[in-house]
Amino acid sequence: MNDPQRKYTMGYGEAFERFLLNRSAINCSANLLARLEPGMRILDCGCGPGAISLELGQAVQPGELQGLDIEQSQIEKARLRAALAGCDNAYFQVGQATDLPFENDSFDAVHCHALVMHVPDTPVLMAELKRVLKPEGLLFARDMIGSSTFFHSSLHSFEDMMKMFLALIDANGGHAEMGKELKGVFLEAGFSNILLANTSFECYSTPDELLFANTFIDEWFFAPETKKAAINHGLTTEEQLQRWQNNLQECKNSTDSLFSLAWGECLARKS
Ligand SMILES: C[S@@+](CC[C@H](N)C(=O)[O-])C[C@H]1O[C@@H](n2cnc3c(N)ncnc32)[C@H](O)[C@@H]1O
Repeated sequence: MNDPQRKYTMGYGEAFERFLLNRSAINCSANLLARLEPGMRILDCGCGPGAISLELGQAVQPGELQGLDIEQSQIEKARLRAALAGCDNAYFQVGQATDLPFENDSFDAVHCHALVMHVPDTPVLMAELKRVLKPEGLLFARDMIGSSTFFHSSLHSFEDMMKMFLALIDANGGHAEMGKELKGVFLEAGFSNILLANTSFECYSTPDELLFANTFIDEWFFAPETKKAAINHGLTTEEQLQRWQNNLQECKNSTDSLFSLAWGECLARKS
């Protein structure tokens, strides 16, 4: 990214990657998946390690899936996954979402999962996504609604911890509430034909799910680079982070915890 102060918040560590690899097109992008047809050409913009991309690629076979991400390591992982799965219609490349290396009007569908919230200049991004879509093409985006996302436990409150995480996304140039702003963002970009605007929760409640979520938060949120970024932005202190981490450890086996990520999505047709 151009501005060194503005950095992709989630990073590319093992814990966050494990979280991303848990995703699927059915869980995350079902409303687009249902409209994909064999032969379409689709772009997965901000594809990460490709967990969702490969299913999108399968849905458009013998059409083509192009995956793009700003980070080389993610593209290498997505290529490897595609090769192992025998997806010969999936192509991945490093690129910048606000300056796409594709022709005008060249995709039947563009998919952005958890991307718009991390790109600082929303109007530039939206104009670029619109440029590469064919007339009548589909644009789908899904992003977090930060203020409706929570980790609940009767043992400790994690509200301040969540607020700090959201402030970190914003401090890095992102938009922690983008999930509920998407519909307006689409309209502002000239997507007047909105087919759907929806919200949902991704809930972790069984002991196995909670262990997964707790371990993910522990290993990602309290990773040295995340902590350093939060402290450098003046959002918290080492002592406070240590208290939250201890509290989280104490909740590891608590049966009444609930971790719930709130999402907003929007699907539109280019007119
Ligand atoms: C939260 S991950 C989501 C990955 C995948 N779409 C998913 O939902 O599993 C966001 C991805 O967007 C990528 N990204 C962030 N800013 C970008 C930009 N300006 N251009 C392209 N990719 C970007 C990051 O490198 C990261 O892999």
